[in-house]
Amino acid sequence: MKQIVYITRKLPEEVVAPLREKFTVRMWEEEEIVVPEEILKEEAKSAHALWTTITDQITREVMEGAPNLKVVSNFAVGFNNIDIQAAKELGITVTNTPNVLTETTADLAFALLLASGRRITEAEAMLRGGKWTSWSPMQLTGMDVFGATLGIIGMGRIGEAVAKRARGFEMNILYYNRTRKMDTEEMYGYEYVDLDNLLKRADFVLILAPLTEKTKNLIAKRELSLMKKTAVLVNASRGGIVNEQDLYEALKAGEIWSAGLDVFETEPVSVNHPLLTLPNVTALPHIGSASIQTRLAMMKLNERAIGDVLEGRVPNHIVV
Ligand code: DGY
Repeated sequence: MKQIVYITRKLPEEVVAPLREKFTVRMWEEEEIVVPEEILKEEAKSAHALWTTITDQITREVMEGAPNLKVVSNFAVGFNNIDIQAAKELGITVTNTPNVLTETTADLAFALLLASGRRITEAEAMLRGGKWTSWSPMQLTGMDVFGATLGIIGMGRIGEAVAKRARGFEMNILYYNRTRKMDTEEMYGYEYVDLDNLLKRADFVLILAPLTEKTKNLIAKRELSLMKKTAVLVNASRGGIVNEQDLYEALKAGEIWSAGLDVFETEPVSVNHPLLTLPNVTALPHIGSASIQTRLAMMKLNERAIGDVLEGRVPNHIVV
């Protein structure tokens, strides 16, 4: 009997085809709708591999109910949607898709930084809304990016890729990370600082850290109060790292200048979310890695990892 692969989202046939040659492939046939939890659990019962996305909660319960499960391959670099400890205990391999999305995500993070500093979406909305009556001296004035200080929270591969871009804008780069990176610091002149120092000094604070127990709510009322009134906060990682209520209050009270958010604590974010009522928020629907080339490259990594595990080889990009 062929081993079973369950894919939790409709993916392009060309990407799935190599798996169909060797395994029985079942797929949730919706592109825009998350597979319901009961269906996921039911499918997991017989699956040898799960190809998941960040919208699927792969809990201990899901994995304990899947006696044949050998691998969960997540279509993302982040894996906070998977109970990693449970996977480890149950001997299930978890893989992710790093590297191929680094530059694409760094492009988006930098775009968000520019857009929220220079009020780009707000300006476009004014124009499209027929409210542009005249050029005027201080209309839609924002914050300079060139020569400003950028503070990166989470200096992993994507952080370094953003820092490379920021050097072209002659930005001073501060970073805060779990581990200090002496080699790149010396090579590129980044400055390692503690979190409070970064928040006090940066004109642009960019969050790129993974969501973990330690980073949950890392940026809340106290941290926001340390930032400059003219500072811009950009989050291109996971919504749960920022306390959204505290961010809303800080933005509304003018304690910080603006925010650029590609991620929210609960996604998809409701149109009634308080942050979306603020003109100084640039909001995007979690599109950091969304270029055609990158999304296809991510899928290729998942397809290979699943094939490798099911055929007894060691896959690349093992999380556990
Ligand atoms: C990731 O890879 O973790 C992104 O957030 C989804 O593409």
